[in-house]
Amino acid sequence: MKNNPEIPKKPRVVTTKTVTTMKKTGEKIVMLTAYDFLVAKYLDQVGTDIILVGDSLGNVVHGYETTLPVTVDDMIYHAKAVKRAVKNALIVVDMPFMSFQASLDDAIRNAGRIMKEVGVGAVKLEGGEYIAEIVKHLVKIGIPVMGHLGLTPQAINKFGTYEVRAQTKEEAKTLLNDARILSEAGVFSIVLEKIPAALAKEVTESIPVPTIGIGAGPHCDGQVLVVYDMLGLTEEFKPRFVRRYTELAEIMRTAFRGYIDDVKSQRFPTGKESY
Ligand code: KIV
Repeated sequence: MKNNPEIPKKPRVVTTKTVTTMKKTGEKIVMLTAYDFLVAKYLDQVGTDIILVGDSLGNVVHGYETTLPVTVDDMIYHAKAVKRAVKNALIVVDMPFMSFQASLDDAIRNAGRIMKEVGVGAVKLEGGEYIAEIVKHLVKIGIPVMGHLGLTPQAINKFGTYEVRAQTKEEAKTLLNDARILSEAGVFSIVLEKIPAALAKEVTESIPVPTIGIGAGPHCDGQVLVVYDMLGLTEEFKPRFVRRYTELAEIMRTAFRGYIDDVKSQRFPTGKESY
């Protein structure tokens, strides 16, 4: 483990290059998701390195059961709101299901739309070896790519569960190989989702690009959480990898109850709150 990395005191503009350097200096990479202007603004204000406009917005914003229905237009709509708020963080946008899988043309056109219409720093693609050619092309034409291995929610129908991935020797070997291939194809970082910590450590030590873990233990080069999970808004979702930093659902209900009480009992608005 690298000790005492220099942690910048002042806000800095984060680029894919910054992220690469952070692996070398041992500074942990902090990533959180955002889907709207205000959350993105506060994440940026406190120095979050990477803001991911994740296709998890399908679940937490739109209420879908999976991320599969999310469209490129959905991603662009939310990413534009995030972009308006952010001054320093690197913004990465998920390529949703079927926006890149069918052909290289699709991948280039859709990644190009996201970069051109929103003006973000990079896109994220789920998948291993089979997306290597797409990654190579995107990187070649100037579109930085973040990879995503392990639990890849867009493949939920193939696996049928959200259990920990790569628990067998064979699956672990495949994941290590996928990480190496993605790294060689040119990704600037890789998300490792819900895999054993020992495997995440092995991946992290075996490739030059930073790994960003979610449910992948402490040895990754960075960590990511879905912002609504860490805020305690997704109350029923309780995997062990989510640490809740507040209980926003309860705070919101208390505020709403207070407002209901005040309106019903005519304590709101007062004269001071009127014109
Ligand atoms: O969509 C998302 O929010 C993600 C993170 C969980 C990494 O892919």
